[in-house]
Amino acid sequence: MKAIVYTKYGPPDVLQLKEVEKPAPKDNEVLIRIYATTVNRTDCAILRAKPFIVRFFYGLFTPKKKITGTDFAGKIEEVGKSVSSFKAGEKVFGFDDNGLRSHAQYTTMPEDKGIARMPEHITYEQAAASTEGAHYAYNFIKKVNLTKGQKVLVNGATGAIGSAAVQFLKYFDVYVTAVGNTKNMELLKTLGADKVINYEKEDFTKDEQKYNFIFDAVGKSTFGKCKPLLEPGGIYISSELGPAAQNVYLPLVTKVFGGKKIKFPIPTDVRGSMVFIKKLIEKGKFKPVIDRRYPLEQTIEAYRYVEKGQKTGNVVITVEHK
Ligand SMILES: NC(=O)c1ccc[n+]([C@@H]2O[C@H](COP(=O)([O-])OP(=O)(O)OC[C@H]3O[C@@H](n4cnc5c(N)ncnc54)[C@H](OP(=O)(O)O)[C@@H]3O)[C@@H](O)[C@H]2O)c1
Repeated sequence: MKAIVYTKYGPPDVLQLKEVEKPAPKDNEVLIRIYATTVNRTDCAILRAKPFIVRFFYGLFTPKKKITGTDFAGKIEEVGKSVSSFKAGEKVFGFDDNGLRSHAQYTTMPEDKGIARMPEHITYEQAAASTEGAHYAYNFIKKVNLTKGQKVLVNGATGAIGSAAVQFLKYFDVYVTAVGNTKNMELLKTLGADKVINYEKEDFTKDEQKYNFIFDAVGKSTFGKCKPLLEPGGIYISSELGPAAQNVYLPLVTKVFGGKKIKFPIPTDVRGSMVFIKKLIEKGKFKPVIDRRYPLEQTIEAYRYVEKGQKTGNVVITVEHK
């Protein structure tokens, strides 16, 4: 089968399109024929092993898994002997930030991990684009108690995480302020934002509005700068560690002192996210934003684009089987 392979961490140039052996499912695994996958920011972090902590999970000196890719949409081709929840022929989509070797024509995955049947009426491309960013967005939302009418600001609302977060928040009937650039103001309104702030013209931290929650889905603000915007007891969550990795230890400090808090949720329950994401797609409440599509053969170009940190939603890789 065709796959994107690497043997050392580094820039996209270390990637190669190669012919490799098709995987065989273990007893508890399913074999998936992949039709679509994405290049996402998690893939980029794994590729360069940045931040350094990545190496503790993916290989200290060289990558343990030689095929890249963390998500997929495809069809089950074969099931292992003990698999009971899926059968051959079913359309599935899934994600695993431990690496799925999914920039390939086939991958395998244990049946009890982050894999679910695809909702009907969506394409493989849409299904693949509904996993990584949406999982992290749901990870923010799970950490707060949303009630109707609360106010939430999403910074980086045009990204994979941000564009999913805006739609998920509207499902909970909260007032959403979305921060993005000039070209995406209309898109953000289409996603359901009640108010949009163009960061190219305005600094959202100078906004008069107070918020119950601030989600920085691009990690370019700080708790310190956003604190004045929070209501008493308000919560700030960022997708990044912060300039001095303070988003990791500040949650402990703010927890002790009470009042406005910062949280740094570790995203673990992918399976739970898949259940939520699937439900919202089926209710028509979530539609992933797709920026560009590249064929598997051009995955290196896709990485170069995604690494810039300027994509709008998701970058899909389409996989052909000739
Ligand atoms: N904590 C975790 O577990 C975790 C997991 C995955 C990703 N991440 C991190 O989370 C961040 C977002 O991920 P993502 O997949 O959503 O990224 P993404 O799709 O690359 O989106 C980033 C978005 O932010 C916009 N942006 C850039 N500068 C901005 C600014 N100053 N103000 C507001 N928006 C700005 C970009 O568009 P324009 O430049 O065109 O404005 C882009 O649409 C990344 O830094 C990623 O490394 C964290």
